[in-house]
Amino acid sequence: MDECRNVIDPDRTPDDISLEATLRPQRFEEYIGQGRVKDNLKVFVAAARERGEALDHMMFYGPPGLGKTTLAHIVAAQLEVQLRITSGPVLERPGDLAAILTNLEPNDVLFIDEVHRLSHVVEEVLYPAMEDFELDLIVGQGPSARSIRMDIPRFTLIGATTRVGLLTGPLRDRFGWVARLDYYSDQELTQILLRSARILGVPIVDDGAEEIARRSRGTPRVANRLLRRVRDFAQVEGEGVVDHAIAEHALGRLEVDSEGLDMMDTKFLRLMIDKHGGGPVGVETLAAGLSEERDTLEEVIEPYLLQKGFIARTPRGRVATEHAYRHLGIKGPTIAPQKKLF
Ligand code: ADE
Repeated sequence: MDECRNVIDPDRTPDDISLEATLRPQRFEEYIGQGRVKDNLKVFVAAARERGEALDHMMFYGPPGLGKTTLAHIVAAQLEVQLRITSGPVLERPGDLAAILTNLEPNDVLFIDEVHRLSHVVEEVLYPAMEDFELDLIVGQGPSARSIRMDIPRFTLIGATTRVGLLTGPLRDRFGWVARLDYYSDQELTQILLRSARILGVPIVDDGAEEIARRSRGTPRVANRLLRRVRDFAQVEGEGVVDHAIAEHALGRLEVDSEGLDMMDTKFLRLMIDKHGGGPVGVETLAAGLSEERDTLEEVIEPYLLQKGFIARTPRGRVATEHAYRHLGIKGPTIAPQKKLF
């Protein structure tokens, strides 16, 4: 279980954190993929710079590991302002948010990751801060409590979430632009891997990068993680060069299959098919069967399986598609009602 989590775990490992800082593109020109989002952002950033104003508040959403934080870094760098980074669960009390907001410089960018996990009370403080750049705080308790209002510098909030559907309407409405980040194509991931290998000094050839890219779940974080592991195999069991053969060998050893599904994905599909007749089956049932958090299934595993057509959503739950049966080499269901679901 641990091994498979290392590959698709949405959270950054300590290795990922230091590596992402090393590999992080500094400018839009270095950032590969997400073409439409990037092109629009460039315009908004250039316009705000020209006017000498804070950029409008923006929201980035999409599966983990696609570069939401990286884009925020680039936006702040291009605006030549500071970037402050925090996250929804860290901001427990209104005072936590107030401490950050009151320390911003004009036009700074505040990045709040997992913005869908902000508590109700913190969200209430955020509304006037976003809209009027004012902070409304209650100071003291009981009869001596009083409310104070203070001005804060104009700033840009960049919110990031894997679950845009969980945002409250009022919060969502306060963002001037909501952008969805998509999975990367194999070609884009190949370019990212070649760039990462160059920066890290990993000897690599194109077909090696292509093989890792194909199996990286459309996600740069996964691609860069697999590159490090394949490099280890190349060093110890190969000639030191990441080529197609060593990539195939290493990914086989890591149990990442030809379609990029890893042990966790395969377990998920197997559970649906072997224990639940291919579905429909509810996410809670699957989470219990896999001893996994429901959120991980919904935010990490399912979006990729849906996108690749291995599962489908129905009003009664998830179903495994014919593609999943074929991929796992299992004969499809023969009962009529089940068939209709494909
Ligand atoms: N590293 C991770 N994501 C990247 C991207 N989108 N472009 C370039 N390098 C990256």
